[in-house]
Amino acid sequence: MLRGMLVAPSMLACDFRQIEQEAQRALAAGADWLHLDVMDGAFVDNISFGPDICAAIRRSVPEEAFLDAHLMINAPDHYLSRFLEAGMNLISIHVEREGAVDLHATLRAIREGGARAGLVVNPATSVERVLPYLEEVDLVLVMSVVPGFGGQSFMTEVLDKVRFLRDERVRRDLHFLIQMDGGIGPAQAKLCREAGADCLVAGSSTFRAPDMAHAILSMKQ
Ligand code: DX5
Ligand code: ZN
Repeated sequence: MLRGMLVAPSMLACDFRQIEQEAQRALAAGADWLHLDVMDGAFVDNISFGPDICAAIRRSVPEEAFLDAHLMINAPDHYLSRFLEAGMNLISIHVEREGAVDLHATLRAIREGGARAGLVVNPATSVERVLPYLEEVDLVLVMSVVPGFGGQSFMTEVLDKVRFLRDERVRRDLHFLIQMDGGIGPAQAKLCREAGADCLVAGSSTFRAPDMAHAILSMKQ
């Protein structure tokens, strides 16, 4: 069966002077989801935006638009309610915070708050770390760059994690989506699809493309 590839432009690469128009431009160009990269300057070496900007983006787009918040923050449990109130449809948290954050409880709270729950694994982190959580997530995000900045190069070696998760999903009869994020353009999209990814996050290759609709379409095909 042919599965459609979801493409989620990352708002991190948009023109922040006109964030409302940029969100609308991405949707008009065929974006399936909008990906919102939240960074606290502690979990990653960058500060982007928080729940108020997420809420402003929510107000900028039609109600049915799907907003995907990627929390690169040390305390996703503490801030969770603010992102739920901001109207995020999917909230993803990092498995690297295991131990410091009760991930089982936080994933449960995301779902109880009415959003989908995602778990993210960094390039340097073993994919086995997500295994205890697979029953509790709607999506696993495999990072293909070290998080913190847009515009980095795709790390081909993480495709093994995607293949592993795809096999594990079949073996355990689960239904989570596999998302990839970082350094993805049309050339990398093909590799991601072949490995088993369902959703691609793309910042530079969408917002900074001469023709965003064409860029999105070429990643979907
Ligand atoms: C990196 C972010 C990514 C990033 C992707 O920390 O999680 O979502 O914005 O940007 P590109 O596609 O430019 O690598
Ligand atoms: Zn991201």
